[in-house]
Amino acid sequence: MAKKVLFIVGSLRKDSFNRQLAKMAEAHIGNRAEVTYLDYQDVPWMNQDIEFPAPEAVIRLRQTVAAADGIWIFTPEYNFSYPGHLKNLLDWLSRPLKAGDYATPTVINGKKVALSGAGGKMATGKSREKLSELLTFLQADLMTEPQTGIVLNVEAWTEGRMILTDEQKQALEQQADKFVEWV
Ligand SMILES: Cc1cc2nc3c(=O)[nH]c(=O)nc-3n(C[C@H](O)[C@H](O)[C@H](O)COP(=O)(O)O)c2cc1C
Repeated sequence: MAKKVLFIVGSLRKDSFNRQLAKMAEAHIGNRAEVTYLDYQDVPWMNQDIEFPAPEAVIRLRQTVAAADGIWIFTPEYNFSYPGHLKNLLDWLSRPLKAGDYATPTVINGKKVALSGAGGKMATGKSREKLSELLTFLQADLMTEPQTGIVLNVEAWTEGRMILTDEQKQALEQQADKFVEWV
């Protein structure tokens, strides 16, 4: 049976380059895995006043993550880190399902996670570095290598047109192949 792979795009922007990157990875994976995208627009901000019982959107988020054999996060870099809404998601995923139950592992614990990102000169290196630190703290099973970091072309910034070089395409495809094998 095809493995279930959950893609999380760390950008809410309609024409997100990171979403485009995810779509390219999905196309390359083809029928080797079942790819779905996490829709997290309805996940509220973490607020311990509403933590238990978990809001419906958070229950759905946890079920979706639990059902995935692997997760691939495609995220921009915001101010040398990852976007705040991604942190919010992971904060929800880091918490016990029931108040005071720290014995049951969280759904992110042991989950296979791969990282990629498209951005400026640093190729989202800082974003992925800090996200790696967080995911390690949450005891996710992180695919440290390879990761695809894309330095966006000039036309992406000036005309909104992302064009990958052959090398960048190859890096993404190699990561996709490794990821499918690994999950
Ligand atoms: C709040 C904010 C902070 C940003 N900081 C960085 C940064 O530190 N490094 C970087 O490479 N790009 C930075 N950018 C530019 C993003 O890389 C760029 O907007 C990119 O297109 C976002 O990804 P997306 O197309 O998937 O939405 C920042 C953008 C925003 C909105």
